[in-house]
Amino acid sequence: MFEIKKGWPLSEAEELVLIGLFDQPEVFEQEGWEKTRNLTDQLKELLHTGDLSKKMGQITTVFTLGLAPAKRILFVGLGKKKELTTETLKETFGKAFQTAQKMRIGSISVAIDSFVSEKHSVTEVGQLLGEAFALSLYQFPGYKKKSNLPEVNIENVRIYTGTEGEELEDSLRYGYIYGKATNSARTLVNTPHNLLTATDLAEYAKELADKYGFETEILEKEDMEKLGMGALLAVNQGSDEPPKLIVLKYQGKKEWKDVIGLVGKGITYDTGGYSIKTKTGMVGMKTDVGGAASVLGAMEIIGELKPEQNVIAVIPATDNMINGRAFKPDDVITSLSGKTIEVTNTDAEGRLVLADGITYAKQLGANVLIDVATLTGGVITALGVDKTGAMTNSEELFEQFLEASLETGEMIWRLPITEKDREKVRSSKIADLDNSPSREGHAIMGGAFIGEFVEDTPWVHLDIAGTSVTKSTSSLGPSGATGVMVRTLAAFVESFEPLK
Ligand code: BES
Ligand code: MN
Ligand code: ZN
Repeated sequence: MFEIKKGWPLSEAEELVLIGLFDQPEVFEQEGWEKTRNLTDQLKELLHTGDLSKKMGQITTVFTLGLAPAKRILFVGLGKKKELTTETLKETFGKAFQTAQKMRIGSISVAIDSFVSEKHSVTEVGQLLGEAFALSLYQFPGYKKKSNLPEVNIENVRIYTGTEGEELEDSLRYGYIYGKATNSARTLVNTPHNLLTATDLAEYAKELADKYGFETEILEKEDMEKLGMGALLAVNQGSDEPPKLIVLKYQGKKEWKDVIGLVGKGITYDTGGYSIKTKTGMVGMKTDVGGAASVLGAMEIIGELKPEQNVIAVIPATDNMINGRAFKPDDVITSLSGKTIEVTNTDAEGRLVLADGITYAKQLGANVLIDVATLTGGVITALGVDKTGAMTNSEELFEQFLEASLETGEMIWRLPITEKDREKVRSSKIADLDNSPSREGHAIMGGAFIGEFVEDTPWVHLDIAGTSVTKSTSSLGPSGATGVMVRTLAAFVESFEPLK
């Protein structure tokens, strides 16, 4: 896929060459340009007349018309060196790849040194390029007679550089793994429920585990009954599809300690149950499996990179359906933790399955917990669709997680959980907890409820209801599932330092 070559791409018979243009006078004085002198002189002219832009994010196609062995150039404007951010560079690569894809060119080459600056070393650029390559060209195949996939795919990317290649090769691969795993999560989320039941999800997880050598445990309904997972079972009660509790274990340290628990909401479809959603509110609820998808995507990266960490992934999976046996508002259920829950809203089902998932992760030895869930519409009202809501009981853990998110560029923003919030979720008159005590601040209510099961274990809760799908197409992917938090979870795991 990526091939590293020494030299100047315009001197080779390349179909399409990607070259970055920083906004500085000496662009054409850098190494290489003197090798294709005739072309370079013409390009200077284009720059002069303004037909070739150095503005950040501007892409200009130029045909070399015999002035150089390479056929076409895609000039990528990068603006001022000081102002180029990591996100912009990644997005710009994405835009360039999408442009090349539209031109139906199967093989492209990149003059990677032209993207290097004080801000990004060649290996950093390589990583961003690898990630952008996977993310930007993602398409969900769909089920049309005529597939949504493009007819021509970019199969080969030749990276031309004057530097030594080995580290660069690793960084390209690293970025690509991050992007590809995000795409796996996107596909899970985009898949409709009739084709992705809890059983299918467990099957997918098993295949992943086989590929990477994770230990697996899949709890069946009978196992859950024996263990007393009353909260997960209640949500599944109205369904013909059996629930699954999926566990993947990755041990990267000699001893099984400092275990990171990743818990993902795996609601394969959310009708709302008897607190049923409206006909328009229900559309799209195949994506309620987003938390589980993020966790599985992160496990894919962990499987590829094998960091020296211990991770346990726990995914409570079921749909939330209705029949004559389904759970109802007013029911009181007993969770795995022993805490009883008065159900006041069957549409607040995510926190119920997570309650048992979290208790189980703790029982398996998780010392820190990160849960990921498309939990509340409230988080969309609060933070919009580009920031994941985060809640925590540990400043130290949150600090580490925030750091990881800043690295990947996936924005998170913290919401508070106060003692008063905790009192609210404990305000049921007949049970320990109420699963939906208030519509006010209900993203926080969701977090506070889950916190009751986390107890003292350091924990970060991520509400991705707003960020897991997008209506808009971008340079890093089409509309639909985003695969949000795959990369941040993995980056967090990779850099995790046991808490003091
Ligand atoms: N899966 C939904 C949350 C959701 C809403 C995800 C919109 C994606 C887009 C969740 O199970 C839910 O129904 N939450 C309720 C909570 C309420 C009953 C406290 C909500 O947000 O209305
Ligand atoms: Mn719901
Ligand atoms: Zn839900």
